[in-house]
Amino acid sequence: MLIRKAPIAGLTENDVTPKRLYMNRRKIMAAGGAVALTAACSGPQPDAEAQSAARAGAGEPLSFRETAYTVSDGELTPYDAVTGYNNFYEFGVGKSDPARFADAMTTDPWSVEISGHAERTGVFGLEDIIDFNALEERIYRLRCVEAWSMVIPWIGVPLSTILEQFRPTSDARYVAFETYLNRDEMRGVRFPVLDWPYREGLRMDEAMHPLTIMAVGLYGEVLPNQNGAPMRLVVPWKYGFKSIKSISRIRFVAEEPETSWKQSAPREYGFYSNVNPNRSHPRWSQSSERVIGAGPFTRRDTEMFNGYDEVAPLYAGMDLNEDY
Ligand code: MTE
Repeated sequence: MLIRKAPIAGLTENDVTPKRLYMNRRKIMAAGGAVALTAACSGPQPDAEAQSAARAGAGEPLSFRETAYTVSDGELTPYDAVTGYNNFYEFGVGKSDPARFADAMTTDPWSVEISGHAERTGVFGLEDIIDFNALEERIYRLRCVEAWSMVIPWIGVPLSTILEQFRPTSDARYVAFETYLNRDEMRGVRFPVLDWPYREGLRMDEAMHPLTIMAVGLYGEVLPNQNGAPMRLVVPWKYGFKSIKSISRIRFVAEEPETSWKQSAPREYGFYSNVNPNRSHPRWSQSSERVIGAGPFTRRDTEMFNGYDEVAPLYAGMDLNEDY
């Protein structure tokens, strides 16, 4: 079990250490003392920590409420790894391509088209659909289908609070998401790696689950472009590719929507994509994962639903080896 909804005071020393390091770092930075950090932190990678401190804070800061949603094991992944080792194929398939090229994407102004089975539809600005006074922090592990993971302090709002505003009708059984597409700004879409735009979807009950968030920031700052600015999904119990970035379209639909990776390789990627150590990817095992930022040989066992056991009832009666 990874998340704790208990009050922070109920967590053990181990549980809170990563959070405390992060909060200390934020306090030190706020006091203008980022350099003092090498001495203040005693994490496993002092250099990475120091670099993180120097880099974190470069983006626009966000105000947010702390929550007790946090992983109970594992250090926070250093900021440089979170923002330098990415998948955002619209900017290239190399892990460093998004950090190099995603700045070309225009994220302000940003509009989102809402359509389908809902009482309220249309084109809305970012501030119209996200309440920036209600931001909260969720420290979630993102587990990629490529068998690596990171622990990231995301900032966002529950996706349910966004979707409810549009009053979906009873015909809305799924919600489909699409990433912004601009051939001039996204050098990766010259190549037919996927059928662009990138598309993902959730069943309505998955979308409304309190663990599902729309993130607009990380590490106390506005999302960097490479992480999916200005808004991206974070669905912590699913493989990372469900967490679609830079969303510009949301559609309420009756049927299971097409999703990019399933469409591209249906034998390898399904619609549900729940983290499942018992179902190997056809080309590699999913039983363990490389911990990004913790040294090349650090691995941990992958847990069912990435450890978020409370979502299990959503899949009662389903065979998750068939519905992968
Ligand atoms: N969203 C879009 N639009 N394009 C992508 O290529 N990659 C996915 C997901 N969302 C992807 C995307 C994959 S495979 C992963 S693991 C996560 O983003 C990575 O998120 P991060 O770079 O913020 O860690």
